[in-house]
Amino acid sequence: MTHSTTDPTARPASILIVCLGNICRSPTAEAVLRARLAAAGLDIEVDSAGTGDWHVGEAPHVEMTEAAAAKDYDIAALRARQIAPADFARFDLILAADPSNLRDIEAIRPAGNTTPVMLFAPLSGSGQDAIPDPYFTGDFAGALALVEAACDGLIAQLQ
Ligand code: 4NP
Repeated sequence: MTHSTTDPTARPASILIVCLGNICRSPTAEAVLRARLAAAGLDIEVDSAGTGDWHVGEAPHVEMTEAAAAKDYDIAALRARQIAPADFARFDLILAADPSNLRDIEAIRPAGNTTPVMLFAPLSGSGQDAIPDPYFTGDFAGALALVEAACDGLIAQLQ
């Protein structure tokens, strides 16, 4: 949970990854980041959420679940939830799957809160600012590959 320091260089104790529906990109990122953190021996809490409420309570998208399973990530038990203003106090770092998610997250930031909200994709080093949404592109494997690269970049920064 939230650590007490305001040092911006401090390692976050908790990370929230946010996309639009919380059924494709962010639950995948939640599972990949959990696996990468465990492999790196880093004890950091990870959760995911969506800016929208259409899929609250639902399991991840079937094709996303299959693409993740093909690479040994099990996201089937995750359930979608919507980001809430209280998440700004609950998490030390919030990562957005694309610029429009970032704007929607910032729109509900509580007054006075300074939790960093950053784009996730640039951590991949690919030069992309967005994880293209496979719900619309159909490219679930591509989204997963970019998520993996972004997680690798994040882990490198955290070590
Ligand atoms: P996600 O993909 O943001 O990666 O979970 C989407 C899932 C559902 C919708 C949009 C994006 N939707 O409009 O229902």
